[in-house]
Amino acid sequence: MNIHRTAEDIHIINAVDPSAVRTRFREVLAHFGSGVVVITSIDSSGAPVGMTVGSFTSISIEPPLVGFFAGHNSTTLPHVLGNSEFCVNVLSEDQHSLARVFARSGSDKFEGVDWTPSINGSPRLAGAHAWIDCTVDEHRAIGDHRFVVGGVGALVVPATSDPLVFHRSLFHGLRAHR
Ligand SMILES: Cc1cc2nc3c(=O)[nH]c(=O)nc-3n(C[C@H](O)[C@H](O)[C@H](O)COP(=O)(O)O)c2cc1C
Repeated sequence: MNIHRTAEDIHIINAVDPSAVRTRFREVLAHFGSGVVVITSIDSSGAPVGMTVGSFTSISIEPPLVGFFAGHNSTTLPHVLGNSEFCVNVLSEDQHSLARVFARSGSDKFEGVDWTPSINGSPRLAGAHAWIDCTVDEHRAIGDHRFVVGGVGALVVPATSDPLVFHRSLFHGLRAHR
């Protein structure tokens, strides 16, 4: 479904005191568009786990480091830290439904999802735009999130596809999807 924002969607926000900043934080920060990844790992029984993340970023080329922020309530985070390995699945434009599935907390998100294990065992989701296999390098609490830094072990672009983009609560590519 194509979504086009109209002039009625646009309104001005000017949050300048601490209370207004807290109230408007999510709404205004949503103006920063991002790519979308699913961070995957395995739990102590070997079952796959994963969560949708927009805070993924590249950090360093030498050494090759990437990172993301995970909320303290994430059920995936303890498994990433316990396993010390994870895979960054950069989603393709047509994987917006997968992004919604992996944005649910704790449920069985892998039902019906095609994946293969990376060398470090973390799930590589079929159809992803890119796979980045990582080992946890360091992590620290910042505010209500934990910053996780990964050393990059492998980089794969499995096929040609277009990337998924998230902006103001909508998924975009060449078209927008609800
Ligand atoms: C586009 C998008 C980006 C997201 N980015 C993040 C993020 O960077 N960090 C985070 O902790 N949660 C993020 N979330 C929310 C998590 O996916 C959500 O809290 C999920 O339930 C976590 O699953 P878990 O508790 O099973 O680990 C994002 C959700 C969406 C839809």
